Amino acid sequence: MSEIINIDYYVQNLFSVPIHYLSIDDFDSNKEELIDYAYYLRDNDERGRIASNCGGYQSQPFTVNGGDVLQDLLINVISNIPSFRNNVDVICDSWVNINPPLSFNVKHCHPNCDIAGVLWIKIPKNSGDIVFYSPYNFISYNEMICYTREFQEKGKYFNDYEFPAREGNLLLFPSHLEHKVKQNNSDEDRISVSFNLKLIDNN
Ligand SMILES: [Fe+2]
Repeated sequence: MSEIINIDYYVQNLFSVPIHYLSIDDFDSNKEELIDYAYYLRDNDERGRIASNCGGYQSQPFTVNGGDVLQDLLINVISNIPSFRNNVDVICDSWVNINPPLSFNVKHCHPNCDIAGVLWIKIPKNSGDIVFYSPYNFISYNEMICYTREFQEKGKYFNDYEFPAREGNLLLFPSHLEHKVKQNNSDEDRISVSFNLKLIDNN
């Protein structure tokens, strides 16, 4: 039996992964126009492209320069993220996702950019939340599962973590962070917009 001793115990989490969570005020005033925008793209490019989408439509990517409801909204939101320095320029490429019932997105990351993001436009109940995988999922798998639930919760030290998708909200996250979108188990389309940000540091 081990001897009981008094110890001071302290844990500091050192390297974190920032998930930027934004909520757009008055999103409902733009929602229908954004839904029409997504279907317009699909109707004019029905094949779209295949990437992480299984059963869903993904549009060809386009560079965001402003001039329509979606691009203006993205520029507005991205230029108001308080964590970026003023002298950082951003190049944004975006695409639209329409996931019909039973479709989903397999685990992937977004190479060749710095930050990835998603804007949720139409999210019926049970249409699929987003699941992130820890960058340490492989190398620290056994370590992580041996911690108490309380310790995992406190340090957000999980193998994976499910984030609820909510209409009118955006998530931005480091582009290396692997993620998937769960199956759409509703009987309606789930519509979102994804985007990649390249950050240019002007010092
Ligand atoms: Fe993604």
